Amino acid sequence: MATAELAGKHLVLGMSGGIACYKIAELTRLLTKAGATVQVAMTEAATQFITPVTMQALSGRPVYTSQWDTRIDNNMPHIDLSREADAIVIAPASTDFLAKLAHGMADDLLSTLCVARDCPLLVVPAMNRQMWLNPATQRNVAQLRADGVEVLGPDSGAQACGETGDGRMLEPEATYEAIASFFTPKILAGRRVLLTAGPTFEPLDPVRGITNRSSGKMGFALARAAQQAGADVHLVAGPVSLETPWGVYREDVQTAQQMHDAVMRAVGNYDIFIGVAAVADWRIDHVAEHKIKKNADRSLPTFMFVENPDILASVAKLPHPPFCVGFAAESGNLDVHGEEKRVRKNVPLLIGNLGPLTFGLDDNEVVLFEAKGATKLPRADKRTLARALITEIAKRLPDTRLIT
Ligand code: C5P
Repeated sequence: MATAELAGKHLVLGMSGGIACYKIAELTRLLTKAGATVQVAMTEAATQFITPVTMQALSGRPVYTSQWDTRIDNNMPHIDLSREADAIVIAPASTDFLAKLAHGMADDLLSTLCVARDCPLLVVPAMNRQMWLNPATQRNVAQLRADGVEVLGPDSGAQACGETGDGRMLEPEATYEAIASFFTPKILAGRRVLLTAGPTFEPLDPVRGITNRSSGKMGFALARAAQQAGADVHLVAGPVSLETPWGVYREDVQTAQQMHDAVMRAVGNYDIFIGVAAVADWRIDHVAEHKIKKNADRSLPTFMFVENPDILASVAKLPHPPFCVGFAAESGNLDVHGEEKRVRKNVPLLIGNLGPLTFGLDDNEVVLFEAKGATKLPRADKRTLARALITEIAKRLPDTRLIT
């Protein structure tokens, strides 16, 4: 099942002039792939950086550049183009275009379209650092924020002009994430969520260790969904090769003990704890200082194990625990093991799945275990499932008013 998290959303993507126009080709692809329809409108300056032909091919719709365009039946593109839009996104938003927006100017199609809109406006600034820091630009951006315009970014870093600093446009993926977040109902606004994700790695010696096949995808997808739902999110991650979700605070650890310590240090500040990590139950009691070599007599090495702390159970045992959600990856008989584990770990909600059917894959099928019984959620990709699980968790929080 495709994510299609922007299915049914219609965006006017307004491009003003700047070298960052090249990023909008990729942004358009990401938006359409997520199910949005994208109507591109470009200023004259934007067409100097990327052609309307390219943007038409990627968006699958004719591109508008002039308020005198006769293709619109009533000849009022500045009105008609925005009427069906769920939002107008200006990307890149140049210094000049921000100034025009802040002053309500309407001397070309895109600026007129913005003044005439009846939908939210998002701007993604892109400019040289001195242009961004210029007091006039800062005044204009403050005015736009005060007018309810969403300002996404800018980023900091190397600039096309050779200078380094604030003003770079967010990368297309980050811009996409910020737009997807904008459309997500804020059902966890004001909530603070702590999660663990991924496997742990228990060293045997400096080069070897014991780990498992958890990819971290489910935990990272939940962190992303919680952030998009308006929560402050702290993700304690075992060794995985995944990008940190936009807006999420990430702390990397290796061993179960390190994960335990990181969680116990932080947990007092959080009102939801989701233990998604596949934590090793045991570690080696003595990690060899040097690489363990083969013995000349071919005798085999022996290892003694000691038990790792149970992070979820430790959190659930606190005098004032956050709302605790556990995960259980079983290899069979989920119905029995899931509820048994929920009771043993003393958590209100446990999400069960079958390990071999989920590890490393992009989709998953889960069952929610709670005191009132078990509920199965339909198989879905991990991002979709994460959104559904965050909704389920939000519904079960004490005094949450669910906005959907
Ligand atoms: O007992 P089991 O490992 O199957 O329990 C799974 C749940 O407990 C998951 O939520 C996992 O993150 C958590 N857990 C933990 N610390 C451990 C073992 C598991 O937090 N040492």
